[in-house]
Amino acid sequence: MSYVQFEYTSPRLEGEVKVPGDKSISHRSIIFGSISHGITKVLNFLDGEDCLRTIDAFREMGVQIDIEGNTVHVHGNGLEGLKKPDKAIDFGNSGTTTRLMLGLLAGLPFETNIFGDPSLTKRPMDRVVVPLRKMGASIYGDANGNFLPITIHGGALQGITYQLPVKSAQVKSAVLLAGLLAEGETIVQEETETRNHTEVMLQAFGADLKQTEKGITVTNKGNLTACDVEVPGDISSAAFFLAAGAIVPGSTVTLKNVGLNDSRTGILDVLKQMGAAITIANERTTGGEKIGDLTIQYTALEGITIEGNIIPRLIDEIPILALLATQADGKTVIKDAEELKVKETDRIEAVCQNLQALGANITPTDDGMIIEGPTKLTGGTISSYMDHRIAMMGVIAALVSENPVKMDEKDSINISYPAFFDDLETILQ
Ligand code: S3P
Repeated sequence: MSYVQFEYTSPRLEGEVKVPGDKSISHRSIIFGSISHGITKVLNFLDGEDCLRTIDAFREMGVQIDIEGNTVHVHGNGLEGLKKPDKAIDFGNSGTTTRLMLGLLAGLPFETNIFGDPSLTKRPMDRVVVPLRKMGASIYGDANGNFLPITIHGGALQGITYQLPVKSAQVKSAVLLAGLLAEGETIVQEETETRNHTEVMLQAFGADLKQTEKGITVTNKGNLTACDVEVPGDISSAAFFLAAGAIVPGSTVTLKNVGLNDSRTGILDVLKQMGAAITIANERTTGGEKIGDLTIQYTALEGITIEGNIIPRLIDEIPILALLATQADGKTVIKDAEELKVKETDRIEAVCQNLQALGANITPTDDGMIIEGPTKLTGGTISSYMDHRIAMMGVIAALVSENPVKMDEKDSINISYPAFFDDLETILQ
């Protein structure tokens, strides 16, 4: 096997990065634009492979979508304008595309076949299949519809009241999308708040969606109309340079226009609690989403416990937080994060195997991990597990390793951050 090698001698990071558009918001801008009437202009769209899968899916269903750099025009013909795709749709590596699209396809009066790559094929779909069947959709696939490839036959749906059994914005969004096509009210109740981009954006597009004491309520009575979207920078991508700035001696890094929606900023709370020197400037709101510029400086960090309601607010940042914790003084415990096992790979295993291989003191647990720091990482050989966030963690680890980090591939980074190495180069001194 050929490896890519990352070696940085006495690095220091200084300067500004404009991180790419938010992945969750980019997906939703295409979905809601496609099912609305009129032309939706999307600025700062993330041209990562996952979001391009969502565009491909709607093109297959007859929607005209024009891409010019990071500006996208979606020519929506409304929910009734979507046509049966001519062939099976490939959702690649994208769990968000799959789960949200299943919600929409559940209400459309035709049969669709969907499949994905080996990683997506292992990820559980029963979390959306169960409520969508309750609403009236017919869904067939391996293990009673739990795994792709899946055939879904949508049609007349009935609204339901659904209490989320997993803390998942993808499941919430799938049920709300189905609710746009269902008779009566659909109510989603969640014990712990997960990212709320679907609710914010559906309201901006004119859906009949409200937050009441019963839960998040949606009906088919709204009038979905095109609405321009300016996608904030992705805090989950910014996280890699925030962590790097905090642990590479002498660094000061500014991340511009980062999305600061409260349901996503768990990483900032954790960084502050660990003692990081982080400031927020130019705070403003666009399309109902908060944005700001983040500056972080290298400083000594302390281990903490990360658990409970904060977990959904930083779930995608746990790999890079684990690396950060190897450089913090004392014990960091990450709990209540069993969802990591069903991400693009089992991220508890991937993070622990890799950081152990680089010399860290880290132990996996059933729902997270325990890290003892600080450790000077030695470098070594790791695997990306074909997971973009594990791969980026590996590259950032090389910045604080004595010897090179060798990794089996780096192309998976294109899933969420195609310009990752260019941006790193910009701030590397
Ligand atoms: C996402 C929700 C999260 C997150 C994923 C994107 C979304 O997944 O991990 O990267 O856009 O709704 P879950 O809903 O499975 O927690």
